Amino acid sequence: MSERLAHAVFRARPSPAGLCLASCALVALAACAESESDSTRLAVADPATLPVDQRTFSDLTDFVQGYWRTPIPLQGPAPEGFNPLEASFEPSTCGTCHPKQYEDWQTTIHSAAYSPGLAGQLVNWERDSYANVRVCLACHTPLSEQSAQVPDTAGQLVGNPYFDRSLRDQGMVCAGCHFRAWRKYGPPRRDGSLEPSPEGSPHGGVTRTPFFEDSRFCKGCHQFQQPAANGKPLENTYEEWRNSKYPVLEMQCQNCHMPDRRHLWRGIHDSTMVAGGVTIELVQARAGEPVTLRVTNSGTGHRFPTYVTPEVRVRIDFLDADWQPLPGGNVVLIARKVAAGAGGWQELSDTRLPPDSTATLTAEPGPDARYARGRVIVLPSNFYEAVFEGMLSGALSDTSRALIAQAHRRASSSAYSIFDDTLRIR
Ligand code: HEC
Ligand code: HEC
Ligand code: HEC
Ligand code: HEC
Ligand code: HEC
Repeated sequence: MSERLAHAVFRARPSPAGLCLASCALVALAACAESESDSTRLAVADPATLPVDQRTFSDLTDFVQGYWRTPIPLQGPAPEGFNPLEASFEPSTCGTCHPKQYEDWQTTIHSAAYSPGLAGQLVNWERDSYANVRVCLACHTPLSEQSAQVPDTAGQLVGNPYFDRSLRDQGMVCAGCHFRAWRKYGPPRRDGSLEPSPEGSPHGGVTRTPFFEDSRFCKGCHQFQQPAANGKPLENTYEEWRNSKYPVLEMQCQNCHMPDRRHLWRGIHDSTMVAGGVTIELVQARAGEPVTLRVTNSGTGHRFPTYVTPEVRVRIDFLDADWQPLPGGNVVLIARKVAAGAGGWQELSDTRLPPDSTATLTAEPGPDARYARGRVIVLPSNFYEAVFEGMLSGALSDTSRALIAQAHRRASSSAYSIFDDTLRIR
């Protein structure tokens, strides 16, 4: 793709959603960022000249409207009287007093949100287009303290004296969800009360709000705004949930993804979570008749799967009396397929399963078939595999290539099976 076209594609796509998935545009943009252009070195700002967040939040509406204004503005120097533990953004420091949450969080994709696949793209833009970098950081590492550049009072990007590289590398850190202007926010007490913390509690106690138990807490990053393809945003998880039975059942995102408030956020990369969200059966009415494999979205609170990035392969194969594979059988994909073109995103197909719906695959056994094997295989990073492959076949800096190669290895070895069963059919 020519450089000009790449830019056109990039600009034609106003939403960050597009950027996130804009394979070819990203590759080409990265390539031009690497060209000779002399970037102006930014001076580091005087902390006293940077705008610092002063906002506090009160009622639910206020939280819904303002809490996820990202990037989360700088919090400035720690309040007077905070000891080093209280004045730290570092997850392991939170972990000294909140060990359970820290232990869970370390195992999650949120803590890995500054992934090689992301870093490998951003490394090329860091000199020349930090404004674009910040678009990505808004969801992956939302604190301004995780951003090398921040806007000064005139809105000009300048070097950030509060930048903490190690914090950035830790992705969605505790403070990103719990800290605003040095105040800690958290859910109601377990008895439901909003009772303030006792006088003298560490970090000035915590402001409690039902917002933390509400799906709208997750909406900011898991629901894109613009309809991008066939009238649907590329990520439409909140709307899919809202149009399901789950709001009526008072099942918020947290009920399934943070059971008993655990910081787990398991999703498409976790076979146990995925298997728990569907019901699968391999059946045959009578010997010799067609075989059916059914996959029902029985417990996933949105479409299965919700993103355009995974692919689920449902297949039936026939085996002879010696368990040798025979030609025939059948395959169906459960996935939403999109492609980026010059005119924006296009939806090629959407066979994902809304809650309570079923995908049915049928196959007719030939005369030699003795057994039917049914399988459901999940490729959680299918889309990215191709994106990273595309990037690796183009021009990349050494740093970028090493990171993207790592992301590609990870994406291409992430497939797993959630169902594999064999039925004697005659
Ligand atoms: C020195 C110990 C200490 C450190 C360090 C600490 N906390 Fe706390 N935190 C507490 C205590 C004690 C409470 C209970 C306050 C109360 O009873 O209301 C608390 C309460 C909370 C709550 C509300 C918990 C609940 O029961 O609902 C959240 C959320 C929280 N802290 C987040 C954090 C985060 C995020 C960090 C790191 C940036 C952090 N804390 C660092 C001691 C600490
Ligand atoms: C509105 C929030 C949001 C923004 C903005 C955003 N992302 Fe993402 N990104 C996500 C979510 C949610 C996922 C996980 C779901 C998925 O795979 O689509 C993700 C996943 C990814 C992944 C896959 C992780 C891996 O390594 O396998 C990459 C790469 C990525 N984003 C790159 C980017 C880039 C580059 C940008 C900026 C151009 C960006 N994202 C902007 C929310 C966002
Ligand atoms: C993606 C956002 C997010 C991140 C990251 C995050 N939390 Fe939380 N945390 C929440 C939400 C949401 C709740 C409330 C869940 C609920 O009520 O179901 C919560 C609840 C808590 C509670 C109260 C738990 C209880 O049993 O009452 C503590 C303490 C806490 N978090 C600490 C931490 C610490 C420490 C970290 C980092 C190691 C962290 N959180 C990272 C969103 C987050
Ligand atoms: C500030 C943005 C942000 C918020 C708020 C947020 N997430 Fe995420 N979440 C992300 C990003 C970015 C990723 C993907 C990271 C990657 O793949 O590199 C992600 C990944 C996930 C995944 C893993 C998906 C998979 O591929 O397996 C789950 C599940 C998830 N989030 C659930 C939640 C829930 C539930 C909430 C609300 C309590 C929430 N998130 C709040 C940004 C956010
Ligand atoms: C009734 C339980 C339930 C509810 C409610 C629920 N989820 Fe899920 N979610 C699941 C299960 C099960 C999976 C694994 C299957 C899958 O990936 O679709 C999943 C997967 C995911 C994933 C992985 C990506 C993907 O392609 O599927 C993300 C991100 C996610 N959920 C976010 C959310 C958000 C945000 C909400 C609230 C708006 C929410 N979930 C509500 C059960 C639930």
